[in-house]
Amino acid sequence: MLEGKRVLLVISGGIAAYKTLDLIRRLRERGVGVRTVMTEGATHLVTPLAVAALAGNRVATDMWELTPEGEIGHIHLAREPDLVVVAPATANLLAKMAHGIADDLASTLLLATDRPVLVAPAMNVVMWEKPVTQSNLATLRARGVRQVGPGVGSMACKESGAGRMAEVAEIVAAIEAILVPAGPLAGRRALVTSGPTHEPIDPVRFIGNRSSGKQGHAVAAALAGVGAEVTLVSGPVALLDPPGVRTVHVETAREMLAACEAALPVEVAVCAAAVADWRPAEALAHKRKKCEQPVGAIALVENPDILATLSAAGERRPRLVIGFAAETEDLEGNARAKLRRKGCDWLVANDVSPGSGTFGGERNTVLLVTAHELERWPTMGKAEVALRLVERIAGHLRG
Ligand code: CTP
Repeated sequence: MLEGKRVLLVISGGIAAYKTLDLIRRLRERGVGVRTVMTEGATHLVTPLAVAALAGNRVATDMWELTPEGEIGHIHLAREPDLVVVAPATANLLAKMAHGIADDLASTLLLATDRPVLVAPAMNVVMWEKPVTQSNLATLRARGVRQVGPGVGSMACKESGAGRMAEVAEIVAAIEAILVPAGPLAGRRALVTSGPTHEPIDPVRFIGNRSSGKQGHAVAAALAGVGAEVTLVSGPVALLDPPGVRTVHVETAREMLAACEAALPVEVAVCAAAVADWRPAEALAHKRKKCEQPVGAIALVENPDILATLSAAGERRPRLVIGFAAETEDLEGNARAKLRRKGCDWLVANDVSPGSGTFGGERNTVLLVTAHELERWPTMGKAEVALRLVERIAGHLRG
């Protein structure tokens, strides 16, 4: 199942590096193309010659070495693979990753990569249990870095406890789980919009709204959780990018539309963003002064409607287009009218009136409206709304 995948293996200076030789063999047996990078410490524990012989590729160790093509080696190496695996990941390298330190080839390409990263920590039990190590790992996990192990057992340093690198088979299984996603939407492409848009008035001011992006981000994470290949186009939010999701950051409605069109074709599009309907006709290049005329008037023009555009995209129309409707009154009537007006297949309508606590809050009460049905869902957490919606999407696409 891993045939043809490309893994960049970063080997740092832990004694478990000897097990990494076996990992390279197991990956190559499965048809994986393996490139390798070693830290200086790693080269004291296993020889670059052994690593290169097993990987069938030269080992990169030097930040300043020019490639024959004169390319910037670490940028090229960082962008090429399907997955970056750090095994063993020492406490030192994990600390550098958590703090963005790039002082050798391995740490620099870990900073330069935009690919998923899997770490297999390996260290002495006391180093493992130190709060600083745990907090570095928690930071990395929150940023989407995946982790396998460590296990518990005896160590090379004659101590025993947690900190042994995961077994090779476990690392291969973790690689497989990332590169060959399972789940009802495995291999299907999805697009989600989320958050508000900011429409510039001048370099310091904008028109925006109170959307937090929590619901849209939860839908993107839930879709990825069932195996979908998700592009999330997000307006300015104070949320972390969901792990396993390709997130494109935009500011304005027009940028959001362009990013959505670039993400096509997809099978399902979920438009959860609170797109500004209007933008200033002209964004001033300088800060608007209080005394500028005409006082109190900013001319507005209408923004493109992303949901309506995707719904009318002809051959490129996603099979299932889902909109959200933020309403403060007559939820049902407005939702039905909006479904027709936008040309989408389903509409998730939510009450955002001031007392509802929906905007910025954790919970949501929604109606799911389709051409022939209307379902009232009980009040739930936004993550639960996302899971339920994704179950419905998976059922629909299967059917
Ligand atoms: N939407 C969009 N592009 C816009 C405006 C809205 O894609 N320019 C999408 C939203 O992401 C949402 C749906 O349309 O899925 C409905 O958004 P909402 O703000 O409720 O509707 P409006 O079109 O703004 O309609 P109204 O102001 O009449 O309520």
